[in-house]
Amino acid sequence: MNILIMGPAGSGKGTMSKFIKDEYMVAHISTGDMLRENVKNETSLGLIAKGYMESGKLVPDELINEMVKERIQQDDCKNGYLMDGFPRTLVQAEAFEEMTNIINKKVDVVIDLKVNIDDLASRITGRRVCKNCGSIYHIVTSPSKVEGVCDVCGSSLVQRKDDTIEQLQVRLAEHKKNTEPVLEYYRKKGLVKEIDASKPTEEVWAQIKQAIETVS
Ligand code: AP5
Repeated sequence: MNILIMGPAGSGKGTMSKFIKDEYMVAHISTGDMLRENVKNETSLGLIAKGYMESGKLVPDELINEMVKERIQQDDCKNGYLMDGFPRTLVQAEAFEEMTNIINKKVDVVIDLKVNIDDLASRITGRRVCKNCGSIYHIVTSPSKVEGVCDVCGSSLVQRKDDTIEQLQVRLAEHKKNTEPVLEYYRKKGLVKEIDASKPTEEVWAQIKQAIETVS
């Protein structure tokens, strides 16, 4: 199964990716996580990406496409992939179509998470992430057992630098301008399943599972 999960900042892509990956045993490829790893390791890509990410802007297409092209050919994608946060522009979508045609792994379904803006703001400002393993928490809806400590690996929880109301506005504007046309591109191919992602986690997961099962 080859799946794209899309939606604005804070809509639950990372949270739902964990459920999807565990259920369908696909390779979870988050361009946001890959970029943060590059920033942490101060690679040449990370040094360029940092400024864009901290301001909420998209990282240039050619850098993202190169990173994904290399990743999608790795062995763990043989059983299928789950792209989280990619493609975000039409240039990326067209490049991805070429890449997946070559490896014969076309997109089967696009999950589009819909959440209203007020909910996105409280999700983004309340999110905490583990700086070691990346597990995702929320101070109200899914707190860790011990405040500030990851349940999975015991490392500290931190707030992402781009998780402010100001950066959220920029990220939402980027989504509207660049990523809405990508959704339209896949809608024309009949691949998009809209999900009401404002519901509690278990309900969102049930909707996604049902959507994937209609195409598998
Ligand atoms: P990225 O890391 O992809 O950020 P994003 O798209 O803004 O999405 P988020 O990670 O903020 O949110 P999410 O949808 O995963 O929500 P989550 O599950 O954590 O990208 C970061 C940056 O990298 C971009 O701004 C850009 O600069 C760059 N970048 C990445 N990909 C790129 C690309 N392809 N091209 C160019 N640039 C790129 O959930 C959020 C919170 O809500 C959590 O606290 C969670 O616990 C809570 N929550 C989740 N679901 C529910 C629920 N159902 N009910 C209640 N709370 C919930």
